[in-house]
Amino acid sequence: MAERWSPDSWRKKPIVQMPDYPDRRALTDVEKQLATFPPLVFAGEARNLKKALARVANGQAFLLQGGDCAESFAEHGANNIRDFFRMFLQMAVVLTYAAALPVVKVGRIAGQFAKPRSSPTEKRDGKELPSYRGDIINDVAFTEEARRPDPRRQIEAYRQSAATLNLLRAFAQGGYANLASVRQWMLGFVKDSPQSRRYVELSERISEALEFMQACGLDLESHPELRTTDFYTSHEALLLGFEEALTRIDSTTGDWYATAGHMIWIGDRTRQLDHAHIEYARGVKNPIGLKCGPSLKADDLLRLIDVLNPDNEPGRLTLIGRFGAEKVGEFLPALVRATRREGKAVVWSCDPMHGNTITSGSGYKTRPFDLILKEVRSFFEIHAAERSYAGGVHLEMTGQNVTECTGGARAISDADLNDRYHTVCDPRLNAEQAIDLAFLLAELLKKERVSQVRPMPAAASL
Ligand code: PEP
Ligand code: CO
Repeated sequence: MAERWSPDSWRKKPIVQMPDYPDRRALTDVEKQLATFPPLVFAGEARNLKKALARVANGQAFLLQGGDCAESFAEHGANNIRDFFRMFLQMAVVLTYAAALPVVKVGRIAGQFAKPRSSPTEKRDGKELPSYRGDIINDVAFTEEARRPDPRRQIEAYRQSAATLNLLRAFAQGGYANLASVRQWMLGFVKDSPQSRRYVELSERISEALEFMQACGLDLESHPELRTTDFYTSHEALLLGFEEALTRIDSTTGDWYATAGHMIWIGDRTRQLDHAHIEYARGVKNPIGLKCGPSLKADDLLRLIDVLNPDNEPGRLTLIGRFGAEKVGEFLPALVRATRREGKAVVWSCDPMHGNTITSGSGYKTRPFDLILKEVRSFFEIHAAERSYAGGVHLEMTGQNVTECTGGARAISDADLNDRYHTVCDPRLNAEQAIDLAFLLAELLKKERVSQVRPMPAAASL
């Protein structure tokens, strides 16, 4: 018999990766205040995402999940959000068109603030301070005051998430995502990029197809699926006090939902079966992601699946592998085989970022684009061999023209990293690299369909 769950039952469990707040009273006050704030997302939306992910689990759609490693207060602005959304739409259209598969769009955005760290402290020039844990907890500046966890930052993160979500909803539903604008989504700096020709060709074919349908008498304006899109939000549910304060009962079903984002995931460092993060996630009805790294054994994975998805509901659980290009072949097949053997209805997604982080000669944390592509390719090969669906990808990326990951069409070198290295946490793909990756994914998906691993979808809409 499972123990009774409540939004605060995680508090009785062992917990890792939590900040040490010096002022406990201030923390309690903030959590009480957050509990009175409106939800950021609605239960019905989370259910729609779960239905969409159920189609991914059945091989009838593909999951594109991505965004910043960590959102920052300093980078919050309309232009950044617009550029990110545009890039996301470009990637989605490449995948939808070339692979003839609907794409489920989930941003790492509007709540992706808290970061797990490999070490609780950071040393620089002989000085040791608490690690930076994301803007919702402390500040990235290397001073004692900046690194002190401040609960009031949670209110700021809530406010920023609400404003971001408001703009995303307007973009998704208010006409910006109209397929007729497919050319205009191209970002300024991507226009001059070596691979932009491919995108221009694709957008011209789409525009021609739309004109053809119009000439046949189809009224495009009467089809909302051509003018709008569904865009969902997600983040790592790491700071559980914040998550608890935004956990609400859905009045139509009586179920509990995390309302700080549509989908939440559990990180590779906080997925211990008897610990607080799994306890929290098991009780909310949102779609849940679980990061799976090289240390996860097949038996433990099956136990985690039983706790997180006891009814084997498709769309509830997305397993996000993050092994690294050199290790994915060693670790992923056994996990896929175990889920297939036990008939577990899960989405398998590939995070080709977190297992491929290296420190460059110039001292920057970076990720070689070639290794990212290599892990993605292996992910598809492994799923084809196991007769399983390569369901999606989970990426760290930005719509800005940063130089954080090496390689790609412009062959960013170690020496170039210093030019525009803006991330406060892990290195992200820039828009050009992300769109390049989308073209590769489209080819892999097409190949998968030709080899008939994947059924033809009934209808593919953007
Ligand atoms: C992340 O997604 O930013 C992250 C920390 O991932 P992981 O838990 O897989 O290390
Ligand atoms: Co990261």
